[in-house]
Amino acid sequence: MFSRIAARNFSSSAANAYKVSILGAAGGIGQPLSLLLKLNGKVTDLSLYDLKLAKGVAADLSHIPTKSVVHGFTLADDGLSRALQNADVVLIPAGVPRKPGMTRDDLFNTNASIVKGLAEACAENCPSAAICVISNPVNSTVPIVREVLKRKGVFNPQKLFGVTTLDTLRANRFISEIVGSDPAREDVSVVGGHSGVTIVPLISQTQYSDTIPKEKADALIQRIQHGGDEVVKAKDGAGSATLSMAQAGARFAGSVLSGLAGEQDVLEATYIDSPLFKDEGIEFFASRVTLGPQGVKEIHGLGLLSVAEEDMIATAKETLRKNIKKGIDFVKANA
Ligand code: NAD
Ligand code: LMR
Repeated sequence: MFSRIAARNFSSSAANAYKVSILGAAGGIGQPLSLLLKLNGKVTDLSLYDLKLAKGVAADLSHIPTKSVVHGFTLADDGLSRALQNADVVLIPAGVPRKPGMTRDDLFNTNASIVKGLAEACAENCPSAAICVISNPVNSTVPIVREVLKRKGVFNPQKLFGVTTLDTLRANRFISEIVGSDPAREDVSVVGGHSGVTIVPLISQTQYSDTIPKEKADALIQRIQHGGDEVVKAKDGAGSATLSMAQAGARFAGSVLSGLAGEQDVLEATYIDSPLFKDEGIEFFASRVTLGPQGVKEIHGLGLLSVAEEDMIATAKETLRKNIKKGIDFVKANA
């Protein structure tokens, strides 16, 4: 009788049996992100890779009675390749975080090499996987991954994502603090990129566009754009957002998995290789996309913008252009 109950509870349809690999799984984001994905019923294989401690994190999580098996890998024994083989979704939070006074771009010199190396391993071991990049500066690390995948002949624009979900979560939370609503029911569209002026929350498209006074709306936009700084300052040298980022990453990965599983109307904002402003030389842009069985199913436009938002987009594009070029040039210079 026990085995029958077990068989029923643990049986999984093909649409709910995915391998998710987390690279940088023992870090500040990696650990809670791994926990949240251990709780995701669509995950049957959770593979955790880090330079240190991944086996310990995996052993710890493996005692949680959900259906996934958890494997931990380090550099030894070809651990990176084994972590990635047959992965459906790869999340990359590997890299150094900011300290007070730093911009995300200040992380480029260290994180660009880390992300490039991990992208090469993805290209070699799981060329069809959806790759979700968390490591900063996202505006540049996503172009790095694209260039690596292109060089290896396996780039699929439908399956490369910069994770900007934390900007959406912040926008939803911060606007609810102003209007007194349930933050879980808010859904602010945040477009552009993931740093300062490139983060463009479209407040005019919310139901509160006429009710939030301009001064408060301006302060809200500033707060969303610099939400990361708030956490970096509060952590006072010990890193940047980890727990809220883990929630954001788990939500985004959950949506990618829902899309792969064929669920309908799965919508997330994400930074992707996008046609929206390609004619102006901006090759990547964050906007809402519908996710499907092949990854990105539909890229949505920005919708109707206020004059102020048009200006913000123009400003964002100038910074994005430089950030994207920096990532592409890095791969060219280090081929
Ligand atoms: P952390 O230092 O706590 O953890 C990073 C982990 O990466 C460490 O465990 C480290 O051992 C590992 N690592 C380093 N090089 C590696 C490699 N080559 N292979 C595998 N693992 C490697 O940092 P954190 O707080 O978890 O932040 C990680 C990154 O995420 C930072 O770049 C940070 O800026 C970024 N971040 C992005 C967002 C976002 O919204 N996209 C939000 C928060 C943080
Ligand atoms: C964030 O937005 O919290 C992250 O990008 C981390 C950071 O450096 O602010």
